[in-house]
Amino acid sequence: MRILVTGGAGYIGSHTCVELLNEGHEVVVLDNLSNSSEVSLDRVKELTGKELDFCKGDIRDRDVLKKLFSEKPVDAVIHFAGLKAVGESVQKPWEYYENNISGTLILVDEMRKAGCKNIIFSSSSTVYGTPEKVPVTEQTPKGSCTNPYGWTKSMLEQILSDIQAADSEWNVILLRYFNPIGAHPSGRMGEDPNGIPNNLMPYITQVAVGKLERLGVFGDDYDTPDGTGVRDYIHVVDLAVGHVAALKKIEEKAGLKIYNLGTGTGYSVLDIVHAFEEATGQKIPYDIKPRRAGDIAENYADATLAKEELGWEAKYGIREMCQDSWRWQSQNPNGYKS
Ligand code: NAD
Ligand code: WQD
Repeated sequence: MRILVTGGAGYIGSHTCVELLNEGHEVVVLDNLSNSSEVSLDRVKELTGKELDFCKGDIRDRDVLKKLFSEKPVDAVIHFAGLKAVGESVQKPWEYYENNISGTLILVDEMRKAGCKNIIFSSSSTVYGTPEKVPVTEQTPKGSCTNPYGWTKSMLEQILSDIQAADSEWNVILLRYFNPIGAHPSGRMGEDPNGIPNNLMPYITQVAVGKLERLGVFGDDYDTPDGTGVRDYIHVVDLAVGHVAALKKIEEKAGLKIYNLGTGTGYSVLDIVHAFEEATGQKIPYDIKPRRAGDIAENYADATLAKEELGWEAKYGIREMCQDSWRWQSQNPNGYKS
């Protein structure tokens, strides 16, 4: 299939391009590089020995989309493009709603005009809000989000579901990712955040590589086994493979489907610190800090449905996630800039 990967130069998108090319798909990436580097795509080509098409452009630009769809028919879109920094979204809600929601509306409109009605959308476990019980299944009711970023995911899920309900030619798969970490095992690709990382694993690896001094652990008084927050960390390569599995489902005329992509296991912040130290031999000094606004105590997936219907399950464990994150960070201390 020829797949348009929006946001394909980013962290999850670039890893997904590798898996798509390895499976024999043709890939065209559309990315405005607002949070990524084209070097990631050079690495995709290096690792797969295959070519892909790259268009530097914006999903909000109708002319770019028209050109892209008319040049060569696209069979399906995997839609990663979006802004994703939770804290920034609180400061810049308009920018988040405009980029993520207007961008997706324009993309989907140009898709239907071009006769391409297959989309896989990057959603997030954040749509569950503060779940009443864990693990969460896809039947767990969506909750109230604590930030505009989360609302863009929740609203886009609704928008795409309504579009599919109105026109059964659409196949829409909403993938709710839990906490992606890790990197390509080669050490050539990984997460390259701008500035000081907001997320746990990139913060830890930057402490380990000496760019940051100490980790702050946000709260140790949650109702969890060691008091620190519990999440479902998933290796980015497993996540990427999940998209290839979802594409197969699209080919079966999926209609509307929603899947959790997680491992089903929760780890606390201190579990991750200790697992990282054991897997890499690097010591991570940390201080207990106050809780971070908007954080929840725990969230992890029931990933049974993806296993049953997509034949997909996560293969990598926490040790590999830590080792691969560290291999990437230690070999590329400045990310794609080095
Ligand atoms: P990322 O920032 O690395 O990748 C997103 C890419 O989209 C970037 O390359 C960016 O340049 C591009 N982009 C942004 N706005 C664009 C626009 N208007 N037009 C074209 N390109 C644009 O993020 P990621 O971690 O790879 O996340 C990919 C998707 O998965 C996002 O939609 C994100 O919200 C979602 N998601 C991420 C996580 C996570 O923890 N990383 C968890 C759940 C869901
Ligand atoms: C994990 C745990 C923190 C940093 C976010 C988004 C979510 C999804 C994934 C996109 C929490 C603790 C963190 C630090 C810490 N993204 N922590 N010190 O908050 O679960 O999810 O990314 O959809 O929408 O909200 O991930 O990696 O930020 O935090 O103690 O310096 O680590 O409190 O318990 P989170 P995270």
